[in-house]
Amino acid sequence: MKAILYEKSRSGAALFLRDVEKPIPRNHEVLVRIHAASLNALDYRPMNMGVGIPKSRIFGADIVGLVEEVGLDVSTFKPGDAVLGDISGCGCGGFAEYVSVPEDVLVLKPAEVSDEVAAAVPVAAVTALQALRDKGDIQPGLRVLIVGAGGGVGTFAVQLATYFGAEVTAVCSAQNAEVVRSLGPNEVIDYALEDITASDRSFDRIFAINGYHHLSAYKRILAPHGIYVMVGGSLPQIFKSLLLGPFLSIGSRKFRALAAKPKVKDLEFVIGLVASTKIRAVIDRQYPLEQTPEAMRYVSDAHARGKVIITI
Ligand SMILES: NC(=O)c1ccc[n+]([C@@H]2O[C@H](COP(=O)([O-])OP(=O)(O)OC[C@H]3O[C@@H](n4cnc5c(N)ncnc54)[C@H](OP(=O)(O)O)[C@@H]3O)[C@@H](O)[C@H]2O)c1
Repeated sequence: MKAILYEKSRSGAALFLRDVEKPIPRNHEVLVRIHAASLNALDYRPMNMGVGIPKSRIFGADIVGLVEEVGLDVSTFKPGDAVLGDISGCGCGGFAEYVSVPEDVLVLKPAEVSDEVAAAVPVAAVTALQALRDKGDIQPGLRVLIVGAGGGVGTFAVQLATYFGAEVTAVCSAQNAEVVRSLGPNEVIDYALEDITASDRSFDRIFAINGYHHLSAYKRILAPHGIYVMVGGSLPQIFKSLLLGPFLSIGSRKFRALAAKPKVKDLEFVIGLVASTKIRAVIDRQYPLEQTPEAMRYVSDAHARGKVIITI
């Protein structure tokens, strides 16, 4: 089968289209013929840093495809089922024609959702859901600030926060403002024109998804009993949030960091919202499998608008 392999040489590391052995499903595994995948930070960050490379050397966590074969102990799926999943917990491998994964990481794809749209959902939408609901205890009427609203996680976070009834302020660049506005927030702020952390406003929840602001600046605009959730952003933002969050949490304001986990129940919930058109996937670009290296470069620049899809 064709796959995009990470290879390291004296001149550096890169991705190449290669022919590799088609996997054979073990007893509890499902062989999926992949139709589409999408890119995430958990692909490009390890690749750029040269750490956390999947054992198969094939990146790709979000997959959508058709079940081609099932192992002896598989009870949930049968050949021909359309499925999707986040396979980051079982070694990745989505930038390929086939992957063999445990049945418990997959869910059925609703027929009304296209392969490309479904591929955009697993990591990004589940991350947004776990940030808002599990770490952020989101409630109707809360004033919610989402910084980094234009990317994969951000575009889902804006819609889910709106769906949960929050009053949403989204921060992104001018280039993404129109798309983000179409997702239904109460307000969109261009970060080049206004530094929200320097304003005299306050928010009940702050979700830091991209960019960088000093934690004390976030603290200044976090209302009493408010919750700040660090989802991602620049590496200094991530390290400082992990290190200083517990100290800043003394008092009524809480500083938390998210470590999202693949959960099929959460994936079923968000793909259900997509199927019923309550939320949608924002797709920036699509690339064929052989152009995955180019797609990785594009997403690594951290200015993709929504999701970037690989079609196979
Ligand atoms: N905690 C977890 O478990 C978890 C899980 C998944 C992802 N993450 C992290 O979450 C972050 C976002 O992931 P993603 O998939 O959404 O990434 P992404 O799609 O690559 O994000 C790109 C977006 O970030 C925006 N952005 C870049 N610099 C910005 C800034 N200074 N201020 C505001 N927005 C800015 C860009 O908008 P503009 O072009 O408008 O600047 C672009 O739309 C990453 O850091 C990732 O590592 C964390």
